[in-house]
Parts: sequence; structure tokens; C-alpha cells
Amino acid sequence: MISIALDGPSGAGKSTVAKKCAERFGFRYVDTGAIYRTIGLAAFNRGIDTKNSAAVVSMLPELDIDLSYNESGEQRMILNGSDVSEEIRSPEISMCASNVSAIAAVRDYLTDMQRNMAKKYDVIMDGRDIGTVILPNADVKVFLTASADARAARRYKELIKKGREISFNEVLSDMKLRDEQDTKRAAAPLKAAEDAVYLDTSDMSFDESVDAVAKLIIEKTGRVPVMER
Ligand code: DC
Repeated sequence: MISIALDGPSGAGKSTVAKKCAERFGFRYVDTGAIYRTIGLAAFNRGIDTKNSAAVVSMLPELDIDLSYNESGEQRMILNGSDVSEEIRSPEISMCASNVSAIAAVRDYLTDMQRNMAKKYDVIMDGRDIGTVILPNADVKVFLTASADARAARRYKELIKKGREISFNEVLSDMKLRDEQDTKRAAAPLKAAEDAVYLDTSDMSFDESVDAVAKLIIEKTGRVPVMER
């Protein structure tokens, strides 16, 4: 099995790059942030303070989290039988996800689910600790980043397109807060693995970022894109 680890801060373009590369190489795209978001949503819906570790941990046995794929290969998050894939995308739930992800017991609870995906399929997995903790032996490790302004501008565009009412400054400050929290936490903080290739996409177009990651995959795994086989 081939595994590609794609880590980096929010808004660096990880999910869009990962989706395109998954398509090109016939890999399964695993969005691990969506799993933390699902736990954040479950806590939020129960009125649980997502910074209260004991309360979040005591909720975990009540959760049945399933990661499924629809006919177009898109990952869907199923929480206790309901598809919550859209609900988990709000800025409010982003912060809840960041809060619950700082709890070591939550991370432990999700480790096997993520590793099992990489045992069964060729994967491109994006997150914060994939190259450092979840898949330390990944064939390719990329740390994708961009300036805070470039990342916030992309996220802002995405949210406006979805019809959300939010200002650029709100997006920028939420993002900085979340990145700082994800980087400074004790449990599996956001950081590049020592053997990761660092890619700054601030001045790159979307296609250029995809091409750069695809080139690394070809060089390091010998895989050729599906359409060229
Ligand atoms: O990738 P994302 O923005 O959807 O992730 C939401 C939050 O989940 C993020 O702020 C930090 C956390 N996360 C994590 O701690 N580890 C991962 N592998 C993926 C996400």
C-alpha cells in the first residue's frame, strides 16, 4: 500500500490538493480534520464545553463515527447514523474541532481508525500529525503551507461562495487563533515531520500546487497518474 501524508495549517490548500492527487493516482483521500470536526460537532450539539476534556472524553462512548465514501469517491462523515458532512464545516465547528483535537484521549481514540484506512487502501491523508504520528512511515510526506493572508483569503472566498456571512478580518483572526492553538498544544502539535518536503504555496496557483505534489509522488513512489497508465 502507498501512503501520502499531507500536513499543514488551515487554508493551506491541503484538501483541494489531496482531492486532485487522489483522482490523478487512484488513491483514497482521507480528510482527518473532518473526523475531529465530527467530534467537535457532537460535543457542540450536546452543549458540552469543547475545552472541558473530562466532559468530551465521557461523551466518546456514545459516538458511532463512520467514514464512508459515496459513488463519486467523496468522503462523508456519518455520526450515529446521520450524514453530518455539511454541518461540520461552519467556522464555529472549526474552533470546536481544534479544541477537542488538543485532548490526548480524543487523538488516541481516532488513531486506529486513521491507520486502518492506510492498511486497506492507497491513501493520501491530510491533517496536522499524519507524517509525525499517524503514518510515520508514509512513502511521501509533504508540509503544505502559505502566508496567513493568502490562507485567509482562500478560506474567505470558500465561505462566501457557500453563502456564509463573514468578514475577511474575522476569517483571518479565527484562523490565526486556531493555528496557534493547533501548533502550541502538547498532544501531537501541528509541525512538519523531519523528513517532510516543505511547500509554500503563497505564490502558487491551485494547479501549480497540485503539480508540485504530484511530481513528488511520482519521484518517490514510481506511481504514474491513472490517465497515463
Ligand atoms: O483540517 P481541518 O481544518 O478540517 O481540521 C479541523 C481541526 O482539527 C484543526 O483545527 C485541528 C484538528 N486536526 C488535528 O488536530 N489533527 C488532524 N490530523 C486533523 C485536524
